[in-house]
Amino acid sequence: MKKIPIIMDVDTGIDDAIAITLALSRPELDVKCITTVAGNRTIETTTRNTLDVIAYLGEDVPVAKGAVKPLVKEAKISPVTHGESGLGNAVLPHTDKKPIEADAITAMREILENSPEKVTLVPTGPLTNIAVLLFAYPHVKEKIEKIVLMGGGAFEGNVNAAAEYNIYSDPEAASVVFKSGLPIIMCGLDVTMKAYATADDIERIRKTGTNAGKFCADALEYYYNRYKINSRLPGCAVNDAVTIAYIVNPEIVTAKPSRVLVDIDGVKSYGCTASDFRPDRDRSLDNALVCTDIDREKFIDMLVCAAESYK
Ligand code: RIB
Ligand code: CA
Repeated sequence: MKKIPIIMDVDTGIDDAIAITLALSRPELDVKCITTVAGNRTIETTTRNTLDVIAYLGEDVPVAKGAVKPLVKEAKISPVTHGESGLGNAVLPHTDKKPIEADAITAMREILENSPEKVTLVPTGPLTNIAVLLFAYPHVKEKIEKIVLMGGGAFEGNVNAAAEYNIYSDPEAASVVFKSGLPIIMCGLDVTMKAYATADDIERIRKTGTNAGKFCADALEYYYNRYKINSRLPGCAVNDAVTIAYIVNPEIVTAKPSRVLVDIDGVKSYGCTASDFRPDRDRSLDNALVCTDIDREKFIDMLVCAAESYK
């Protein structure tokens, strides 16, 4: 089977960790590198968490450390959403593995330049690293297959009514990415809020009896309890893992073409991903496929299967 080469760019956090676990369990994927960015937690913590998750799974993927803060805004982390460690209730042994010498941007450039085929970028945090890559090394665009990102929302935000966390954390970077001309698959809140894990789903993951199952269930349990406080959902949205599910099983996701513009000038709408679906729009300006629905059962089955695969 011809593997799909990907580079993940993460701010590990709970759902980033689930996305990493899913990606590393899939034979269809060749995870060339995982780059880290400040977002859910500081760059030191998101990098540490990423290294610990990979080591705990017994996997060996290069990790390259990226941006310490957004392009323009100040970094704003929230110790609540993902817990103090950033991994919810999961407690992982700290690996002595370190990130590679190269920074995230250099690592992505080198992989893209040397890859015999185009590579898919999978950012699941603020888009700072991706924007800097495109600014610093525009020639690598020809080696990028597409960008499958978790971020945005055509119809709602989660920071406020208009903006989703990853985009809101670095709207200027997001604007650069959405204007890059590269094919973008936007796995925003429109689809990720339908990709929720219920208490029973988390129990199914735990009952796989693997270390990965326990880790994912402990992480998701924290997320579930946070969502119970302030969300209408009957579970927790496993946002970032939808990117990997889309790449591996695009048939379980519904997506619509749109022109998406990131608001970097507004006040109330700063960081909004304004998505144009008007049938009479100028479709030559479309720049993204916006995901709007998912077969949730099949998505959860993929997460259970990923946990089981680490027997
Ligand atoms: O809005 C959800 C996104 O913000 C996810 O990527 C989560 O990890 C946080 O970064
Ligand atoms: Ca994330």
